[in-house]
Amino acid sequence: MKKIKIRGGRPLKGHIEIGGMKNAALPILFATIITNDVCTVDNLPPVGDIQVALDILSNMGATVRRSGPTQVEIDTRGVRQGTSPAALVRRLRGSTYLIGSELARFSRAKVGLSGGCNFGARPIDLHKKGFVALGATVTDDDGYVSAFVHGRLKGTKIIMDNISVGATANILMAACTAEGVTTIENAAHEPHIVDLASFLNNCGAHITGAGTSIIKVRGVEKLHGCHYTIIPDMIEAGTYMVAAAATKGEVVLDNVISRHLDAVSAKMREMGITVLDEGDRITVKTTGSFGSANIQAVPYPGFPTDMQPQITALLSIADGISTVTENVFKKRFRYVEELQRMGAAINVDDQNSTATIVGVRTLHGATVTSTDLRAGAAMVIAGLAAEGETCILEVAETIERGYYDIVGKLRAVGADIELVEE
Ligand code: UD1
Repeated sequence: MKKIKIRGGRPLKGHIEIGGMKNAALPILFATIITNDVCTVDNLPPVGDIQVALDILSNMGATVRRSGPTQVEIDTRGVRQGTSPAALVRRLRGSTYLIGSELARFSRAKVGLSGGCNFGARPIDLHKKGFVALGATVTDDDGYVSAFVHGRLKGTKIIMDNISVGATANILMAACTAEGVTTIENAAHEPHIVDLASFLNNCGAHITGAGTSIIKVRGVEKLHGCHYTIIPDMIEAGTYMVAAAATKGEVVLDNVISRHLDAVSAKMREMGITVLDEGDRITVKTTGSFGSANIQAVPYPGFPTDMQPQITALLSIADGISTVTENVFKKRFRYVEELQRMGAAINVDDQNSTATIVGVRTLHGATVTSTDLRAGAAMVIAGLAAEGETCILEVAETIERGYYDIVGKLRAVGADIELVEE
């Protein structure tokens, strides 16, 4: 059992190096299966979810070799279709990507239903609809999703009912080796979709338009391996930006792509926080108080749902009244109860998925539970800003899945924080 203990109230000062993006790395790791070859993936964050993905690949017959602290070489020639271990798959939402990658390589797939962060229903109907449109027969039985097609999938036009990162990525993978052209309309624009498309193109795919609403894939017979470097994690960077502001500190984030954080930077500036953007680094500083804001969590390039709990923690100590509306995962407010234990004045209107936050002068330390990955990050931010000691529970199951060495990185910029293992 791991806990994080924080004695709050110290301004963060210094530099933090941002690692590779977990949510870009996951689809890319599973996409290596399509290549039936050797891929080297660099800037891989050494976090829990990535280790689970590598373990799934090894279990399926891939040879996974660490060639550096953030680099792995994956040889997927030995991968056997339909052999992903259900127990590991259940721990990782991203394992849904195995359906697209197995279909692309083997014309059939069988994958257990996946888990991941629990913030309400996370259906995969759009993924399945996409595979069916490409000519696959998709069935659900006994907790598994199966898909198959005689010969190759057939390129077609797919109009997504709503914007989904997961479905766009999964369909993109399947379409790479389909016959003819696939067009995905109303596609997700997220940087991780662009990163997946770049990886696939490096492996010989023909994808254009990634990062816009219309992605075109001209199918090829097969892909090959490549050497690929994952983009920096915008959510890790955004989390430390908010932590810097919450502690009234001054932090420089190195190795970022600042335009990925434009929506976060804009909101923080609106609150009166200084955010200096220098391309591959961002500086955040604030000395006095900061104001409230109204935020809508929406798909990229809007304010990211994966930053919603962290910004709510910050707004809980802003001057004035703020609102945060969650438009992607309507029930993503379970963590609010934990912030309330620390003295935050937040009221959630479940009907409208909106939190109204009345800023308080300060939070106070408490024992709180990390209810999911980003909620845990919000607890860390609240603990850093609070008076007294905060103890965060369920760290290994949540925070460590997506933040590499969060305790070490924060300690290096002056936080009084420790990881306690019992
Ligand atoms: C991915 C990320 C997650 C992040 C989210 C939004 C991974 C493993 N997960 O999740 O961390 O919070 O993007 O950036 O990278 N939907 C459907 N049917 C579907 C698929 C989605 O109705 O088949 C709905 C969802 O319930 C949600 C919305 O579409 O309301 C967006 O979900 P989506 O973008 O697919 O999120 P995930 O891929 O699950």
